[in-house]
Amino acid sequence: MSEIATLENSLVEAIAAAHDEATLEAVRISALGKKGSVSELLKTLGSMTPDERKVQGPAINGLRDRVATALGERKNILQEEALNARLAQERADVTLPVQEGPQTRGRIHPISQVIDELTAIFADLGFAIAEGPDVESDFYNFTALNFPEGHPAREMHDTFFFPPDATTGERKVLRTHTSPVQVRTMQMQKPPIRVICPGRTYRCDSDQTHTPMFHQVEGLVIDKTANFGHLKWILEEFCKAFFEVPNVKMRFRPSFFPFTEPSAEVDIQCSRKGGDIRFGEGDDWLEILGCGMVHPNVLRNVGIDPDEYQGFAWGMGIDRIAMLKYGMPDLRPFFEADVRWLSHYGFRPLDLPSLAGGLSV
Ligand code: DAH
Repeated sequence: MSEIATLENSLVEAIAAAHDEATLEAVRISALGKKGSVSELLKTLGSMTPDERKVQGPAINGLRDRVATALGERKNILQEEALNARLAQERADVTLPVQEGPQTRGRIHPISQVIDELTAIFADLGFAIAEGPDVESDFYNFTALNFPEGHPAREMHDTFFFPPDATTGERKVLRTHTSPVQVRTMQMQKPPIRVICPGRTYRCDSDQTHTPMFHQVEGLVIDKTANFGHLKWILEEFCKAFFEVPNVKMRFRPSFFPFTEPSAEVDIQCSRKGGDIRFGEGDDWLEILGCGMVHPNVLRNVGIDPDEYQGFAWGMGIDRIAMLKYGMPDLRPFFEADVRWLSHYGFRPLDLPSLAGGLSV
């Protein structure tokens, strides 16, 4: 038997006989280490004639590769065996109760909490939940909502655009509001419609009351007689239930949105003195939503006859009402993912299923 074959046999035997990783490592060093048997053989290639090297080169290199592969395979087997042995020994009793301590339970993010709260209130008022994608087409985010191409109203939203698609040239957007879900809902359902759509929205904006990613809850009611009086009543009832007070000081200001006519914005009275925000006192105002009667063009765009049906809609800032209700004056830390902030402002979980399901942040 050639020297190479003999060496290979003895190495293969040593590898198979290694029953722990340390022994296997010793075999590896004895073969492939700096002074190892295979490394020494490789060194002899340098002093060979070209003809000898042509024969010995592939033989020695082949030996090195086979030994390296055998070492690797054995190592995997040994690691798996070691893990199985550990798993067999260490058993976790998953039926044991959690040991309650200050750090053992996570906290509910205030936004998740508020989404749960508002979902429950609107569910009581007979609203269903609708959802749509965060990455939207220009059509759903703008065109179908009666923003004409090139209309200055598009500039009202500091939009995050995606690069144009290589073939179609289409530029997707991160939705700037939850209003595209109105369009998607009306395309899929026949009136009467009564839905809310909570979700994430995005605008290139950042200060104390604006973050590039924020949350809105859209509301949409379409039937034959839905009118502005109903809209006011629903928003007032919602605010009373949400803020848990018998009366809420709110004001409707005339405004403009391409997808509503007439349009309004709603502010809530609060105090914003000395860097604090307090609901129920003071004479400052915080804008919490935009609303209005759905524009006939929007109804036409989804095939609903505006002579037969009418309705109203709103888009409310979830982060804004969370700030107001829980007295958190700065929006930016909401999304900085600092666990110290979360353990201070977060909510203790109740052992109840969440109403908003997967919608929470
Ligand atoms: N989408 C608007 C915004 O984000 C808010 C809004 C206004 C939503 C009026 C509506 C509405 O549904 O009817 O600025």
